[in-house]
Parts: sequence; C-alpha cells; structure tokens
Amino acid sequence: MCGIVGYIGNRDAYDILIKGLHRLEYRGYDSAGVAIIDPDNRLNIYKSRGKVDDLENFCQSKNVSGSTGIAHTRWATHGEPNDINAHPHYSASGKIALVHNGTIENYNVLKEALQLQGCVFKSETDTEVLVQLIEYIKTSNRCTLVDAVREALKEVIGAYAIAVVDTDNPDTIIGARKSSPLVVGIGDGETFLASDATPIIDYTDKVVYLNDDEIAIINRNQDLKIITVDNVPTTIDIHTLRLSVSQLEKGGYPHFMLKEIFEQPRTIHDCIRGRIGNSGSKVTLSGVLENREHFQNAHRIIIVACGTSWHAALIGKRLIQEIARIPVEVEYASEFRYSNPILTPNDTVIAISQSGETADTLAAIQMAKKCGAFVYGVCNVVGSSIARATDSGTYIHVGPEIGVASTKAFTGQVTVLTMLALAMGQLRGTVKDEEAAKITDALRSLPKLIRQTLKLNDEIEKLSGIYTYVHNFLYLGRGYNYPSALEGALKLKEISYIHAEGYPAAEMKHGPIALIDHELPTVVIAPNDELHEKIISNIQQVKARGGSVIAVVTKGDKTIAEIADHTLEIPEVPESISPVIVSIPLQLLAYHIAVKKGCNVDMPRNLAKSVTVE
Ligand code: F6R
Repeated sequence: MCGIVGYIGNRDAYDILIKGLHRLEYRGYDSAGVAIIDPDNRLNIYKSRGKVDDLENFCQSKNVSGSTGIAHTRWATHGEPNDINAHPHYSASGKIALVHNGTIENYNVLKEALQLQGCVFKSETDTEVLVQLIEYIKTSNRCTLVDAVREALKEVIGAYAIAVVDTDNPDTIIGARKSSPLVVGIGDGETFLASDATPIIDYTDKVVYLNDDEIAIINRNQDLKIITVDNVPTTIDIHTLRLSVSQLEKGGYPHFMLKEIFEQPRTIHDCIRGRIGNSGSKVTLSGVLENREHFQNAHRIIIVACGTSWHAALIGKRLIQEIARIPVEVEYASEFRYSNPILTPNDTVIAISQSGETADTLAAIQMAKKCGAFVYGVCNVVGSSIARATDSGTYIHVGPEIGVASTKAFTGQVTVLTMLALAMGQLRGTVKDEEAAKITDALRSLPKLIRQTLKLNDEIEKLSGIYTYVHNFLYLGRGYNYPSALEGALKLKEISYIHAEGYPAAEMKHGPIALIDHELPTVVIAPNDELHEKIISNIQQVKARGGSVIAVVTKGDKTIAEIADHTLEIPEVPESISPVIVSIPLQLLAYHIAVKKGCNVDMPRNLAKSVTVE
C-alpha cells in the first residue's frame, strides 16, 4: 500500500517523480504529493486528493524546479484521503519532509509526547508524527539528520518504508525500511529510491534492495552508504534487474487487466519453461531438488496466502494431496499468524504471494520460521520481501501484474503448484509415470488451450450487457473448481462492485438456495469431470427456482446447453488443470461487466495491489 519515489541527481526531479508515481499508482491512488528542494534551497510541497493526474494538474503553474525530491501515492490508513493527510508530511519548521509506506502503531503515544513539547499537528496521520519526531530529535540533540532518523526509528513500533529530505542537507535523501519494501536504483551520477523497481527501470538496471532495519544514505556527491538503525555499516549487494519497460505499458489494450488476461498464453509458457521438457513426465524445480528432504519427509504442508493467492492455495491443496499424498492445510495468512499455530521442524510451509509484499503473509512466514518449519515461497515479484524471507522457492515468472485484480498471477500460481505437486510426487514415488505424463502433457498444451479459450472474448462481451446492472451473483463449482468459483466471485466483486458469492455447488441446498430468484444469476463451473452429473442436478435446482444460469462447460456439452441460459464452452482438459482454463471466461466476464458499468477496472475503489499493512 502506498508508493514512494525519490530522486537525487543532475536532472529535474519532478518529471522523474511523477512518472514513478504513475508506475506505483497500483499501490494506492487516493491522494498523491511531491516535495522538491528548489535551487534556492526552498522546500516546495504540493499534494492533492485523487490520482497522480490530479496532482499533475495541481502542479501545473507551480515551481517544481530542483533536482532533489521525494513523492508519494497514498492508500489511506490513518485519516481520510484529503489534501492535508496526503504525503509528503513536513516538520514544524518546514525544513524536513517525509513520505511513508506502512503503519506506525505507537503513533498516539509518540504524538502525545510531542504535543507535550509543544508540537502542533496538522494532519490525522501516523506519518506526521515521524517527521515531527525526527525534527524534534535533530534540534534537541543537535545531531545530524541521519542520527535523528536513526534515533526516531528506534522509537517506532510498526512497519515503514520512508524517504526523507531536509533543506539543511539539500544533497541528501535518506531512505529506511522495516517490513515495507524499498529499492535504491544506482544510476550514473544520480540515485533513485522507490517502493519497487518499476519507477527505476527507465534509468538504470542496477538496484539494491534494502533489508529490514537498514538506512540508505543517498548523497549527490558520494557513493551510496547503508547502515543499520544501530549505526553499523552493511555491505551493498547490487542486483541487475531483468525487467523491460514494455512490460509496464498497456501495449494497445484499453486496460492493464485485459492485457494481462490476453498475455496468459505467453506467461504460462514462461512459467513452465525449463521446468518441464518438450516431452516426458519429468518436472525439475531446483528449489525442490535442493531441499528434497523437506518435501520427501514432510509430515504436513501448510499453505499460507491471502485473497486470490489463497484461492490458488486451495487448488494447490488438492493437487498436492492427490499427487504427492501429503496432508495439506490452507490458511489465511492473517488468521494463521494470530492462531498460535502448532508447527514443528517436520512441517513445510508454502507461502504464496504475487507481490511478495503482503504484510500478513510475511508475518506468517516469520512465525513459521521461528518455529523451525521450512518455508517455501511461490512469488511473482523477483527480489520481493517474501521471496527473500523464505528458505527457497519457485517464481511464477508471469511478469509485472499491474491491474489490481489478479489474473495472470493466479494462473501462474496454479501452474507452479501443479508442477510442485508433481515434483514432490516424483520424489516421494507417489505418482505413476503415465499419470505424471498426462499432467505434464496438459501443462505443455496450456498456452494453446488458453489461446483457444480467449476466443470467447466477444461472446462474453455481449453476454456482459445482459448482466451489467444486476446486484448479486452466485458462483458454483465443485472439486478442483470450487476454488475457481470463489475466484470468479472475487474478480467480479472487486472490479464491478457487484456482490458475488462463491460456493461449493452441493452446499447450495444448505442455505444459499434461498437467495435464488429471477434476479440472481448463477455462474456454474461445469466442465466434464467426475462430478459432472451432480453439477447438472445443481443447475436444475437453480432453474427450478427461476434463476438464470451461465454455465462454463466443456465444448460440445449438449445436456447443459439445453438447461442453462448461456453456456461458455472451454476446450477439453484434465480435471486437475481445468482451473487454469476455467478462470479465463470468469476473468473476462468480470472485466466486461465492470467496463460496461463504467468502473475503473485497473484501479478499483478502496483497493491496492500490494497490501503491505495489516
Ligand atoms: C485479488 C487480489 C488480492 C490479492 C491479495 C494477496 O484480485 O489481487 O486478493 O491476491 O491481496 O496479494 P499477494 O498475492 O500479492 O500476496
């Protein structure tokens, strides 16, 4: 949540900061701001409610000159989204400005203490406390800015990534992190700071990922220096980015979400590349091979995740139990971390996260590691906090996902979990060669099958016109596709604001059936599988009560075509990989309904892509 950018160098900071904020807007978009030190050493701060475009309009006739600056796009935690609560926040003297991603949990205590010293607060935010505290320490201890930041951070309980500028130190930006991401980009005579590498990639591919409790001292005229909050210098580990600018653009599509849906043939190809060969049943995941004892001997696997990643985890559970015969539990990371879980070194924990920054998932990992469990990550963002906090892992390699609603990451996660289940099954000898070959063949054909399924786009666009203004939807699925129903419902509600519930189809008769009438459409996921006959009965139960049915069926399913109101035909696929194919029409349905309703599909209200707060 919230995006931070900083720049110091020989160019005008403003354009770089604004472009960076646009890249980070997926992290939050309820207000934005910049603070730039101008050539006369004045600190100019501009901020406004709304998106980065609103900030740009606001800044049009303002003095934005200067080559040292910080900027922020906000997802509100403390205080409503308005101009005053927008970042950057500044100190009483107006000399120090700060942007922050995270939550200062003890801000009330700190605020009261500062108020007793005469500090007056302008905003309702936790962040303003930090900048006032830094100035208070700097003035009362007569210390350097760096020491003041260090001392202030020692007082803070909570999560933060911050960037600080000070007119007493116009050639310096200070960055620091704890539990919220921060990356330093090292250019030629210029340095960048950002919540992720996307604002940096246009200028340099050399980056340093800050670790928890580290402070970066970025000086225009000196090399980057990193120290801990206890003032111990740390070694600087420079990484080379493998990210291209074109991956961050819409490429002719009206929205990132549609682009990302249509990218899936390629992203799934990238996800399986090098992990299964052109033929045969062998799956090679280096993370599994290097840690074989944790998969061979695991008594139990616990998967922790949130949101869409949690839905992928439910599919992973079935796959691992079926193929590798290890008992699996799936937990919401936010519940798991506070549940006093019973974990032993014989447990293997798998953490799934697209962003690799989800605060609850990160906390669950830390808890599992403390208990001695081996933790394996399934992440998309390379170098993210979760990727670095886990003992080992497998990247899904689907490229940057910018649309707030997860699409290609979900199919990548399910694909990696399928390969993980196979790799574990092969290690443990629980999967027969011909069974493994059936699944690896299906994985190889996924890009082609997704391409075929995407041809439903026009049909779904027309269909969405019928359902644009309904208020509720029910999604039903069974077996491997019960989680697909949950995911389909989540996609619809988050981008179209239509209430939608996902249910295991057979559970309908235990309650939700009472909701069914002609105003409640039901999406039934009904490909040809073991439970096909049973799901036909579920469709009949809906029809008998006047409900309309959109059924996702295997091509040529005449039985369901006769009873459902609409059928969306997908190609024949083995049951275990059907969730990947099924998710395509569900993503498209949610997308087209949301677009018809006039919703901002890439930036739905109240949401952010990276949930770095509790
Ligand atoms: C929904 C969505 C969210 C995320 C959730 C976890 O489309 O994107 O539900 O899945 O916030 O995020 P990650 O996977 O980044 O940990």
